[in-house]
Amino acid sequence: MFFTLEGGEGVGKSTLINLLKKYFIEKEIDFIFTREPGATPEGKKLRNILLDKTIELDSLSETFLLLADRLEHVKKIINPALRNNTHVLSDRYLDSTYAYQGAGRKIKTEVLDKLIEPLDLPIPDLTIYLDLSVEEGFKRVRKRGELDRFEKQEINFFKRIRTFYLNLANENPERFLIIDSNKNPSEIFEIAKISILNKINES
Ligand code: TMP
Repeated sequence: MFFTLEGGEGVGKSTLINLLKKYFIEKEIDFIFTREPGATPEGKKLRNILLDKTIELDSLSETFLLLADRLEHVKKIINPALRNNTHVLSDRYLDSTYAYQGAGRKIKTEVLDKLIEPLDLPIPDLTIYLDLSVEEGFKRVRKRGELDRFEKQEINFFKRIRTFYLNLANENPERFLIIDSNKNPSEIFEIAKISILNKINES
């Protein structure tokens, strides 16, 4: 089964992943936890460029780098794991591109569709979307220290991203689980864990 985790900035993805990792290791369920951008050695180099706040990238250049990272990720990590019946959870995936580059950077959906179609990407079985107000997310991000190239964007960029994610999740309830990130980390973990286990048991 292929799971993805999505959300804006500071919504608590890392905290949730750490709790899930610990649980699935303890239960000895064959699971890999991975992320975008930056899961492969090639992707790590692309991530450094993408997050570098000292450079400016055209929105399409940014998209090409993200898609290059995704293709390496899918070919080298995700597809081999899925073929081996190992469950995969990716911290960010395809929906991030439609949210950040589509809604955020305002690249048309038709343009993104055309760039993405030839990549032949697997579709997640379940996507967990952690939802939090942009203001609350930023309070948390600022506590972490310096802002990266994405975090430096204006507030409306992130508001468009949140609206996009919420619409997408509400329009695709069979794939999405929305969790309110104002809940405490252990509650969020319980909700996510139960949904993941249900999906695994259904298959
Ligand atoms: P992270 O902070 O979740 O590790 O992600 C790094 C940044 O990359 C985050 O600000 C969102 C951005 N991103 C995109 O803009 N489009 C994408 O397709 C992906 C995967 C990430």
